[in-house]
Amino acid sequence: MPLKAYDLTGRTAFVTGAASGIGRASAVLLAEAGAIVHCADRDVHGLHETATLIKGQGGTAHTHPLDVTDRDQLRQAVRSCERLDVMAAVAGIMHSSPVLETRDEDLDRVLRVNFKGVLYACQEAAHAMIATGTRGSIITMASGAVDTGGPGLLCYGAAKAAVVQLTKTLATEIGPHGIRVNAVAPGWIRTPMTNRHNGEEQAHTEAFMARLSPLGRVGEPEDIAHAVLHLASDASAFTTGQILRPNGGVAMPW
Ligand code: NAI
Repeated sequence: MPLKAYDLTGRTAFVTGAASGIGRASAVLLAEAGAIVHCADRDVHGLHETATLIKGQGGTAHTHPLDVTDRDQLRQAVRSCERLDVMAAVAGIMHSSPVLETRDEDLDRVLRVNFKGVLYACQEAAHAMIATGTRGSIITMASGAVDTGGPGLLCYGAAKAAVVQLTKTLATEIGPHGIRVNAVAPGWIRTPMTNRHNGEEQAHTEAFMARLSPLGRVGEPEDIAHAVLHLASDASAFTTGQILRPNGGVAMPW
């Protein structure tokens, strides 16, 4: 039985990017805390794996194969939920290219998925929560890239910076409805997104990233899922417009 403030029994959560990595871990943990979880992703196979994990631990999961860049698909999926208490907009892609080699189509693609995809999810969730008078929680997925920058991070970092701006703006606009909006800005997390190399090269990259953290390790998807659960639950009832940074202490902004 979860601690009372973290108990999501009777609540409904919608998680994009739920087929893999951070989104999957978040969906599974929200279900473990008692929520009915709607899992959305364009990866149909991964979605079903997540739903099977949730059902295997006695939870309730629904799947929505969709592309977050398609507003109509998202709207239909959100409207199919009987109620909506939590939106976790996690779906995203990685892209790296030097500024001088970045093509228009790279920038458009990354902004479309990593910013517009989050924007659509936030808008649909906010409409649904306002229509039903639900004092819900919306969680966006930013990145440590917004604090540190770095070579190759133009498109990805710009999209994530826009997500932070969206989070703060929306928090001020829908706070009067009792709806909270917060961002999570993870550090380096071991997921299929960051597991791009094999064997020795991957181990080398992870060891390098681990050395940047005072805790001496990289993050796991569950580290971020716990941040999502915190922001989804009543434990964070007075928290809105904030960026939570589970990054192992790699960056410590004011
Ligand atoms: P992942 O690659 O394991 O999972 C991303 C999921 O998003 C996948 O299931 C993919 O199918 C889905 N997705 C991508 N584009 C989509 C679209 N157009 N429509 C529907 N689904 C789509 O990646 P990971 O690492 O779990 O990343 C999740 C989020 O966390 C992303 O927004 C990422 O930018 C962010 N993040 C990840 C970090 C890391 O170190 N892994 C660090 C900071 C932020």
